[in-house]
Formats: sequence, C-alpha cells, structure tokens
Amino acid sequence: MLSNLFLLPNSILLCVLLQNVGHVRCDSPPYTDDPKFETGEYGAYPMQRFHSSKVVAPRPNLLSTHPSCDDGSLTMLNPRGNAVPEEARGPVILDSQGNAVWSVTGYDQTYNLQAQEYRGKQYLTFWSGNDAIGGHGNGQYIMLDSSYKEVARIKAANGLEADLHEFRLTDAGTALITVYDVQHADLTKLGGKSDGYIWDSVFQEIDIETGKLVFQWRASDHFDVTDSYRQRGNQGGRRGDPWDFFHINSVDKDPSGNYLISARYTSTVTYINGKTGKIIWVLGGRKNNFADLSDGRATDFRYQHDARWHNNYTTISIFNNGAQAPNNAENAQFSRAMKIDIDTSNSTAMTTKLDTQYINTLQISSSSQGNMQILPNGNTLVGYGYNAAFTEFASNGVALCETHFGATSRFHTGDVQSYRVMKFNWTGIPNTDPDIALVDGSLYVSWNGATEVRKWVLETGNKRVSRNDEEIKWLVASKTKKNGFETEIKIPNSGREFVRIVGVDGSGKSLGSTRVVQLRKSSPSTGISVDYAWEEAASSTALRFLGFCVAMLCFGITFSWVVDLIRQWRSIGRYEHYSKVPMEDV
Ligand SMILES: *[C@@H]1O[C@H](CO)[C@@H](O)[C@H](O)[C@H]1NC(C)=O
Ligand SMILES: *[C@@H]1O[C@H](CO)[C@@H](O)[C@H](O)[C@H]1NC(C)=O
Ligand SMILES: *[C@@H]1O[C@H](CO)[C@@H](O)[C@H](O)[C@H]1NC(C)=O
Repeated sequence: MLSNLFLLPNSILLCVLLQNVGHVRCDSPPYTDDPKFETGEYGAYPMQRFHSSKVVAPRPNLLSTHPSCDDGSLTMLNPRGNAVPEEARGPVILDSQGNAVWSVTGYDQTYNLQAQEYRGKQYLTFWSGNDAIGGHGNGQYIMLDSSYKEVARIKAANGLEADLHEFRLTDAGTALITVYDVQHADLTKLGGKSDGYIWDSVFQEIDIETGKLVFQWRASDHFDVTDSYRQRGNQGGRRGDPWDFFHINSVDKDPSGNYLISARYTSTVTYINGKTGKIIWVLGGRKNNFADLSDGRATDFRYQHDARWHNNYTTISIFNNGAQAPNNAENAQFSRAMKIDIDTSNSTAMTTKLDTQYINTLQISSSSQGNMQILPNGNTLVGYGYNAAFTEFASNGVALCETHFGATSRFHTGDVQSYRVMKFNWTGIPNTDPDIALVDGSLYVSWNGATEVRKWVLETGNKRVSRNDEEIKWLVASKTKKNGFETEIKIPNSGREFVRIVGVDGSGKSLGSTRVVQLRKSSPSTGISVDYAWEEAASSTALRFLGFCVAMLCFGITFSWVVDLIRQWRSIGRYEHYSKVPMEDV
C-alpha cells in the first residue's frame, strides 16, 4: 500500500517528463511586448523548433510595431553569443512579422548577412570564420545564389585573411573587404618599444571573378599611433600581442572612385583618394577637418560603426557606439545612430552639422558592433550589435518598431549579439523540396528559405495501375494560407491513401511539392482501409504509453521490492534487538 502511495506523485512526474521530451512548439508566433521575455523567463535567447524541419529559429519579442515597418522586405541577422547554442548559430532571415524565413547552421561563426547584387543578380553574402582573435576575424566571405547554393568564397589577397567587418559589392564587380594584419610600429610615443607591434587595419578592393587585388590601403601609412583613443595597456610588446590602434569597421566607395572608411579606435570617418590612397579629409577624432556647426554634436562620436553615404554624397550615417570610449563623458551613456551633413564645397573651410539622431527609447548602450541603414521608404533601421535589439525609426528620429531577439536582462553581457541587422528584398527559391511531417493526426509543412510560397495546397490520391507503372491521381483537398515558418494542416477525411503538399505562389503557380506520405492502406480484397495517420499517431501514443507503463511497472516492482527489503531489514533488526533485551527486564 505504501509503495502505491509513493507511485502516484512519481508517475505524475514521469508523465510531465515524457511529455516534455517529445514536446515541439511548432510555429509559435513571435511574442508581443511580453515582459517575461525581457526578464529572461524564456531564457536569454528564446528559440523555437519545428516538426517538419531541423531549423532552430529565434522567437523574438515585438515590443512595438507600426505599419510602415512592413514594406514587404526581410530582416537579416546573425545571432551568436554565450547564450546562442551552436545548433542555432548562423545567418537568419525573418519576415516583417518576426517569423523565421530561413536559417542555416554548420558554418563557423557568421557575421554580416546581407542581400547584395553582383552582375545584375542577387546574392546572400555573409562572413564565416574564426572571430576569436580579439575583436576581428580570420575567415572568408560566402556568396549564396537565390537557391541558397554556395557559389563563391571570397578570400583576401596578398595572403591575408578576410576580416568579418565588411564585405561590400560594387557595381564594377568588385568587393570591398577589411583585413587585419600585424605590422611593426614605433610605440615610444606611447611608452612602448620602438620595435613594437600593431594590428594594422587594411582594406582591399578585390575582383570577384579573378580574386585579384584592385586596390589596397593601409592605416599605418596615413595615421599615427597617437591618433588612437584606445589605451595601449601592455600590448604591442611582441608579435603575438599586437596593439589594435585603428580598428577599421566599414568601407564604402563612391562614383568618383574614392573610399569612405570608419575606424573605431581613432573615432574617425575618413575619405580616401581612390587612386593615391591619400586622405582627402577626416571627420571626427583627433584629425577632424570640419568646423562643427552643431556645437560639437556632429563630431563627438566615439568608437562608431558603419559609415555610409546618402543624399548625393552630402550626408553620412553612422552608428555611434559612444559607450566605453574615453573623453566622451557627456554622450557615453547610450548609443545613437546619427545622420551628419557635411559641406566640402570650400575645401579650406569645410563644415558639418548634425542632421538627425536616432535614440532607442530604452537608451541601449552598445559597447561594440551595431549598424544604421536608411531604408528606401525613409525609415531608419538600427541594429544594436552587442545587444539583441533592432529598432526602426521614422526619418525624423521617432521610434516606430522595436524588436528584441534576446532578453533585455541579458543586455551588456554578450549573451546574444548580431554584428549587424539589415533589411532587404530577397527572393529565395530553394533547390530542395518542402518538408513535411505527420504528427498526431496533423500534417506540418515548411520550406526553409522559400520566400514566394503564399499557400499550401493539400492533395490526396490513390494509386492507379496504369499500363506500365503505378501512378497516383491527385485531387486538391484543401488550401491553407502559409502561416509563419511552419504551417499545420489537418488531415482530411477523404479516405484516400496518399497525401502531399504543394507550395504555390501568389499567382497560384506550383513551386514545389513535399514527398508523398501514405495515410491509409486500402485492401482491395476486403475493402477495409487502414488509417495510417491515426495508426501512426495512435501507435506513437500507444508506444509512449507502453513505455510509460513498463517504466511504471519497473518502478513499482523495484519500489515495492525495496520497501519490502527495508521492512524485512527493520523487522530483523527489531527482532535481534528484542532478542538482546534480557528476559528479566520484560
Ligand atoms: C549631386 O551633386 C553634384 C555636385 O556635387 C551635382 O552635379 C549633381 O547634379 C547632384 N545630383 C543630384 C541627383 O542632385
Ligand atoms: C573658403 O573659406 C576661406 C576661409 O574661410 C575663405 O577665405 C575663402 O574666401 C572661401 N572660399 C570661397 C570660394 O568661398
Ligand atoms: C522592398 O520592395 C518594396 C516594393 O518594391 C519597396 O517598397 C521597399 O522599399 C523595398 N524595401 C527594401 C528594404 O529594399
């Protein structure tokens, strides 16, 4: 009796356990302004899994939304960090509602997912490699075509390693990339050795087709180590411990053939002559060439990222990290994305003015990474790099849409990061088939990376023996609007033997079909059809129940056996004990 009493709570426990083992949250919509997400109750990096696919996708929290943030384009990011498991680390595409569209793993660390054009065709581009080299990386840039097939790996020229910070394709069929390279440097002005070592910042322009170097620029040829705001500490004494004085993090090129680069540790945006490599001007930092007409607010940025041209090359956008930089007390509390106007018409009296700044309502402060993208509709998308957030602002700086893909409580820890977050129009037509799973009487369908599917058409059929072969005659059973990454479709009661699900686009054109799933088996002799779907579901439930029963039985037997054993031991003890009591004391 006692053992039965103990069995009850244990069986409940085991039941809960068993349920959770096979538990799959299919197609959970993103959270909407859920405070539990932000406190980390769902983990530092809330994720979801699916029945039909091995993809592990982020499940973000949409803190605020606005119709103008949905221009039909897709959001691209590369979640990584302490709390992002390897199976979930990689480039990710989300739709404007926060649902997963594509995700892939199996690459090393990845950074900087974008859709870019090369010779009139769109490609997905991202960096992959080793990023544990102290704020930069050794790797290569990968290009995938619209079917997600890898078509190129772009390496740096001159035997150097392609760094993670930049990969920008130009109209001339070239790529701009950043490179970090150890060089000798005189560090005596900073209390170091005359034969010290620096991480030099290099950028290269590379011909995609031939891999040949078109242009190369080296920071140490144009900047002095004293231009840096970064403390040297004890670094720079040996080749194995070079001091990163410049830290290039973006490169852009304009139609006049000149380059615009951003460097973190000099806090400078530099315009460089595309023929000679000579500096044309410097915005910000110790070498600033501009009179700031905004009381210093246009040039006080520190440790910034992602310098881009706008407005016919009269405006520059940057993500100003601000935080952690010395000599910047006033603006160091939080990050601001900035639009800065420059006037270079009089080269001896150049001026600059702060146009607009974009500040997150939570005043997120990102010590590293981050980006700012001005979208075609005038909105500005800001990715917070070190912190798992991106915000879309109206052009005047009003925050419209705030999305987190990691808990706010885990900000500033490096738990969940994405170097950049950007939006692009992207058409993905995978060269795989859609995936299907049959679970507990429902069909689940998904197609990793397929951007054009609007509806899932369920077809059912029976086998017909034609002259030479067996073929299935398919009939449309239902049409279901594609809903998020994975769509659940109920099995129809058609009595037919086979099903498959066809993905169709907006015009009703078929894009691809899942494998054929056998639901039932009709016996021609008896006419009785065995329902596979329910059989499968039932059998899985039955199997689970059987396992449960066996476990319970084992547990019960073991338990009662142990209880009996204890009872026996105790009674033996008691008997012995009594036996030792002198008879005269009884
Ligand atoms: C851009 O600026 C240049 C002068 O710097 C001017 O010649 C050109 O017309 C401008 N283009 C547009 C589209 O405003
Ligand atoms: C350019 O600025 C300098 C210094 O303010 C001034 O002397 C010069 O007249 C200006 N040039 C033009 C063309 O306006
Ligand atoms: C995507 O395409 C739509 C329709 O052409 C356009 O309105 C929108 O601005 C584009 N978005 C991006 C991020 O390029």
